[in-house]
Amino acid sequence: MPIAVTPSGGSLGARVAGLDLAAPLDESGFREVEAIFHRHQVVAFEGQRLDEDALIAFARRFGELEHNVASSFHHPRTPDLTVLSNIVKDGKPYGSPDAGQGWHTDMSYNSVPARASILYALQVPMKDGRALGDTLFSSMYAAYEALSDDWKTRLEGLRAEHDFEKFYTYMIKEKGSPRPPLTDAQRRQKPAVVHPIVLRHPWTGRKCLYADPGYTVRIQGLPPAESDEILSFLFDHQTQERFRYRHSWRVGDVLIWDNCATIHMATGGYDASTPRLMHRAQVLGDDRLYRQKNAA
Ligand code: SIN
Repeated sequence: MPIAVTPSGGSLGARVAGLDLAAPLDESGFREVEAIFHRHQVVAFEGQRLDEDALIAFARRFGELEHNVASSFHHPRTPDLTVLSNIVKDGKPYGSPDAGQGWHTDMSYNSVPARASILYALQVPMKDGRALGDTLFSSMYAAYEALSDDWKTRLEGLRAEHDFEKFYTYMIKEKGSPRPPLTDAQRRQKPAVVHPIVLRHPWTGRKCLYADPGYTVRIQGLPPAESDEILSFLFDHQTQERFRYRHSWRVGDVLIWDNCATIHMATGGYDASTPRLMHRAQVLGDDRLYRQKNAA
């Protein structure tokens, strides 16, 4: 069956049918998938039935995988996967119940911007025949391109600090997350890092807006008030409805998203009576491509 790609009709997002990811992709098959990924930035491969090894093998085609330093929810068999779930087993949460419930991009706190995240839907909460727990995405190509020329000039060359602790603490303080505070050792493993606000995408070379409400804390070299003013403008700008795609989950979706060209947010909104179970793999960036396209 040929691959059928159905774009969302907006700035980003597509569904792909007719591809079985359990069968290893040869080089030309992978290049086709990679081109679809670069074109649409958020791509759902639907109707998949993957075991853990097949999901990891697919994710590794895009790069090395991150092992999250603060997660208590690595998959029981391997830290290559994290379990996201509201399921409780033997009185204990089986997965992270509240991951990503605020706008952010994954792993901007790493010294090299991350390439992708992959989320596989094993159980999707349903109510009255409708899926709950959609994930929102916003295109950072579209957000950059929609800036006025004055803003583009003002942002060019600015670099912002990204800090792992910002989103982690936000989840505890603002969302009442039951996660434990970060330990000193975890904090030391994740010092703040700096990235250009106007990022040249390491793979496509296109300019995107690389700042996110989750992790970006300040702009280097500016007085705090000016840095706050610019970041507050950018956070409002980048989360506008017109740049968004809303992913409504189906069991068997393997969703991959581009962490340089998008930001995202889990909407939550389901309870223990409607189980959700997802396996997530996170693909790190490529230092050589990042520096090649973003020479200081
Ligand atoms: C995430 O931000 O990685 C989680 C997204 C989701 O669970 O919908």
